[in-house]
Amino acid sequence: MSASPPNDRWIVLKFGGTSVSRRHRWDTIGKLAKKRAEDNHARVLIVVSALSGVTNELTAIADGAADAASRVAALELRHREFLAELELDAEAVLGQRLAVLRSLVADPRATARTLDWQAEVLAQGELLSSTIGAAYLSAGGLDIGWCDARQWLEAMTIPNQSAWAQRLSVSCDPRGSEDWRARFCAQSNRMLITQGFIARHGDGGTAILGRGGSDTSAAYFGALLKAQRVEIWTDVPGMFSANPREVPDARLLTRLDYFEAQEIATTGAKVLHPRSIKPCRDAGVPMAILDTERPELPGTSIDGNALTVPGVKAISRRNGIVLVSMEGIGMWQQVGFLADVFARFKKHGLSVDLIGSSETNVTVSLDPSENLVSTDVLAALSSDLAEICRVKVIAPCAAITLVGRGMRSLLHKLSDVWATFGKERVHLISQSSNDLNLTFVIDEADADGLLPILHAELIDSGAMPVAETSVFGPRWRQIAGTVRARQTPWWRSQRARLIELAAAGTPAYVYHLPTVRARARALNAIGAIDRRYYAVKANTHPAILKALVEEGFGLECVSLGELRRIFEVLPDLSPTRVLFTPSFAPHPEYAQAFALGVTVTVDNLELLQQWPDMFQGRSVWLRVDLGRGDGHHAKVRTGGRDSKFGFPFERVDDFIAAASATDVRITGLHAHLGSGVDTAQHWKQVCDELGGIAERIGTVEVIDIGGGLPIPYTADDEPFDLEAWGAGLAEIKAAYPGFGLAIEPGRYLVAEAGVLLSHATQVVAKQGITRVGLDAGMHTLARPALYDAWHDVVNLSRLDLDADAPFDIVGPICESSDVLGRRRPLPASTAPGDVMLIADAGAYGYVMASHYNLRGLPKEEVLDV
Ligand code: LLP
Repeated sequence: MSASPPNDRWIVLKFGGTSVSRRHRWDTIGKLAKKRAEDNHARVLIVVSALSGVTNELTAIADGAADAASRVAALELRHREFLAELELDAEAVLGQRLAVLRSLVADPRATARTLDWQAEVLAQGELLSSTIGAAYLSAGGLDIGWCDARQWLEAMTIPNQSAWAQRLSVSCDPRGSEDWRARFCAQSNRMLITQGFIARHGDGGTAILGRGGSDTSAAYFGALLKAQRVEIWTDVPGMFSANPREVPDARLLTRLDYFEAQEIATTGAKVLHPRSIKPCRDAGVPMAILDTERPELPGTSIDGNALTVPGVKAISRRNGIVLVSMEGIGMWQQVGFLADVFARFKKHGLSVDLIGSSETNVTVSLDPSENLVSTDVLAALSSDLAEICRVKVIAPCAAITLVGRGMRSLLHKLSDVWATFGKERVHLISQSSNDLNLTFVIDEADADGLLPILHAELIDSGAMPVAETSVFGPRWRQIAGTVRARQTPWWRSQRARLIELAAAGTPAYVYHLPTVRARARALNAIGAIDRRYYAVKANTHPAILKALVEEGFGLECVSLGELRRIFEVLPDLSPTRVLFTPSFAPHPEYAQAFALGVTVTVDNLELLQQWPDMFQGRSVWLRVDLGRGDGHHAKVRTGGRDSKFGFPFERVDDFIAAASATDVRITGLHAHLGSGVDTAQHWKQVCDELGGIAERIGTVEVIDIGGGLPIPYTADDEPFDLEAWGAGLAEIKAAYPGFGLAIEPGRYLVAEAGVLLSHATQVVAKQGITRVGLDAGMHTLARPALYDAWHDVVNLSRLDLDADAPFDIVGPICESSDVLGRRRPLPASTAPGDVMLIADAGAYGYVMASHYNLRGLPKEEVLDV
């Protein structure tokens, strides 16, 4: 170890129960303490919790468990075994402490369970674990001494506090004197280890800090010592933008200010107790949350210098919320009404969390983590409140909170979030007066499954600015190692060829046939699927149609134009391999489709009723609307009441009747609820629902679950998990063995195979934004303007340079929506004449291009190498 550090320069490291219960973890603690001391030229104070599970046992004993003696024996055995694992002499290290533990059970105070006795019982866990740590670490060569937290942390006396709270839920004054510091620093060892959770009572005995005890102890020590930093080492990598167990896409929050951290800790994150932040905040001591098992991760830093990045940092959910709705006639501005209401909450020891009020109603929420909200307490409260108003208790509810600085200025980005809540019954909305939180209270059952959706919406809308790397770190799934990496795109190895093609004229779409074939083969390998159709609307280029038919795909068309195109390109294609699924097409198109011999899908009764002759004696497929849509944007969701597609599933019997009246046989059942669906369960559920309906119809041979498979457009998107998808389908198919299963994807087969090449026309800086203009725009690729869709954009001419400057990428069309990407990183030297590549443009690119502004259509090229 390096030369002696200044005597009074400290780093405080706190380790929780799981971090002190295993030998390898103590090795980590030793290494970390040494490294911190050396790197920061500081002394180290280690604060520890009891071994995991021990405090629960001690609590049972303190509560008077009848089998206290056997519980103590089990605790003793557990600690002795752990010492054996550490290869330490149990008797020499812990003999005395274990004797104290045993004697506490026999103590005369045990019968009355006096508060001071309970505190002593509870304190044993930390006394034991810190003693073990001191012995193990000094045996490993660290200059470490043990100190008794009760000598240094003194409980404050707070007026009106109950005797219980004064002993078992104390607070300490974190503003120590210089004399206190001098005495603490005078301890000779360079490192010290002490207990979390415990302090000295005013009478010299033991007191307990209560909830969040060990974190708070570390914070007190950090504040008292004016430490360089307090590090809370735990078994998760830090605070996340949502609970990773519920939202695997949650981002690690790498840097927060004290106030945001406090709000996140208070509204959900269990990783740090909210009480522990204030002492450090007041003393200006930075905090960090780090993962003992993964010390290389950045963790979460909390300090006063964190850059202010406005935006939602986290979304959390608290369950078990109780709402009390109080209805009073003529209470509006009646002096003292609220005082009377709140006096009754106070009487029952209840602290109120959120409040909503109107002329005749006040609704408040009670958070169970802050209150003892038993049915008895609620009944008593209700009967007291009934004296002054009508009371309704609504429970259990969930409070869903968005936390972040500048919530007021974000409202315009929350439209999707509001729309999602709009589907639920929202009992209360509350915006905190510190502009840090916005909370929605809904029924607990309705909150299930909502957080991943809301989290994704916050990211998509830009309300949660995950591109701000100063705040947002990796996703939980990346950390947990469950991310499927995107493949290197084909065009990286074809750069020279693409630049040559661009020289021949842009804008130009280029399609890579080997990629189309690879996607087709991946789908062909899914055993559960019997028939595959390519939705040609995604890309009707002849080479692509041919390639996919060669791979065994049938074709799905939606217009006479598409039908003509495919038979022109593939005159020998059997019409039995073709589906016709139009929407509101002129009725002669159906007649022509029948004449061609392709399979026609209908999605309403009126067709059969108005043109019965055209359908008489025919077989058709029926497209149903399963009552909901899904997909990457509202404009591509094709189900539910507001959608023009599909026959309502609940009225299928009417269709069956109309079909039999016109002598029409329903041989297929179809549903396509949207495009770019990333909910993995989607198709499995569609298949299941269609299976059920098909059985009722009786004549169905094929179930067609549509297209909609997503592709990874952004660096954060993962490739679609085809295997899991196939396995899910196989499961459902086993329940309906009588039907053939069909799919009709478009995007999945062709999107990644296509790029759009373009030339930069002008580079212009205006009021802080630099724009690069392209000869491609919304007339060439409509998706960004129409759906806010993301396409990666690279400068192919300068592919080897760092993309180190933000550009807005715009086209030549006279519309403000003519933007292909905003704030995209490109090489700062990007200049007119550079060849730019817009990725993943093979689906819904050329086919949606227009002549707008009388600009020409793009070219199309094919690569087959
Ligand atoms: N089947 C039917 C009945 C469809 O309406 C569609 C697409 C598909 C299959 C193929 O869906 P896919 O596998 O490609 O997701 N222009 C939008 C997409 C509109 C999709 C329309 N229907 C976009 O660029 O995202």
